[in-house]
Amino acid sequence: MSEHREFEQVTAKAHANIALIKYWGKRDEQLFLPMNSSLSITLDKFYTETSVHFCEDLKADVFIFNKCIANVAETNKVSRYLDHIRKMAGVERYAMVQSINYVPTAAGFASSASGYAALSSAAARAIGLDVDEKKLSQLARIGSGSASRSIFGGFVEWTKGNLDDGSDCYARQIEEESYWDLCILAIQLSDKKKSISSRAGMKHTVETSPFYNIWVKEAEKDLGLLKDALQQKDFERFGHVTESNALKMHATTLGANPPYWYWEAGTISVMNQVRQLRDSGVLAFFTMDAGPNVFVICQQKDKEVVENTLLTLDEIEQIYVCQPGPGVTYLSK
Ligand code: ADP
Ligand code: DP6
Repeated sequence: MSEHREFEQVTAKAHANIALIKYWGKRDEQLFLPMNSSLSITLDKFYTETSVHFCEDLKADVFIFNKCIANVAETNKVSRYLDHIRKMAGVERYAMVQSINYVPTAAGFASSASGYAALSSAAARAIGLDVDEKKLSQLARIGSGSASRSIFGGFVEWTKGNLDDGSDCYARQIEEESYWDLCILAIQLSDKKKSISSRAGMKHTVETSPFYNIWVKEAEKDLGLLKDALQQKDFERFGHVTESNALKMHATTLGANPPYWYWEAGTISVMNQVRQLRDSGVLAFFTMDAGPNVFVICQQKDKEVVENTLLTLDEIEQIYVCQPGPGVTYLSK
């Protein structure tokens, strides 16, 4: 790898996002093209900061992950991703990558989304690629699908597209973070690494679950309903569609062969508690990504009562009170 150009170290900060309409299943595994479009809220409290420096004197990529040298599997994953960036830029140089997650890793709090949004943004700028946000969302996508949405703040739609080359598959902001002052309570029941990653789980479901085709149809319908409720700021409809979409996604895992699920006892306790809150007149709704932890969405005025009610449950380790957050930013040295 010989080149004498100087490359700057670039640090990017990207926030995680919670999907209200889930991305679940790929139509192309190499290009990370999804079977269905999805919609998320970017979260202000959970984020990743990643620095990338393409250095002349490195003999291989180095990945420092949460202040430790990453294991071979994680380093190879990042390296394979950087190969795409190097190919696009026509540059052959290894990189020093340092990343810190201010979000539990691999626990269903979307670290892969903030992780790859930060990595793609930092790497693209560090290598001198001139890419707009649409292209950046496509670059993030080939690291982790949900990362395509974390390029943007607020309410974000990731359109599945139809073309085989993925050129019509990208994310975009549909409403800014200040559009609606919703509150998202991220309920931590466990910060342990889940046993089935989102990637493996969705692949297994596409391949074996008889419910999968129904999921794809329902997800597209739910997306239309959710966007409509969002435009009307109709929180009750918004919440019901969110909750029902999450349940449909998780139902596909029960139909898989062999079946599996991401929930734990505490997950069900939170779901029950949220429904009881609704029975008592407080509008709160739940959703879960691929993991046991639950996100509860409510209006700001109900934040305290929802949080205090949930805190009575023994299974809860911690509650992070989030709001819609910003898109990618670059940090100066
Ligand atoms: P999560 O629910 O946290 O998104 P996943 O299993 O979908 O869980 O993804 C976790 C994986 O994402 C990690 O094992 C790692 O490979 C990748 N990842 C997470 N954070 C980062 C990061 N900051 N930089 C690079 N890769 C990351
Ligand atoms: C349940 O984006 O982590 O959180 O594209 O294989 O990296 P890969 O999967 P990932 O899957 C996210 C699945 C989900 C739903 C969502 O975020 O839309």
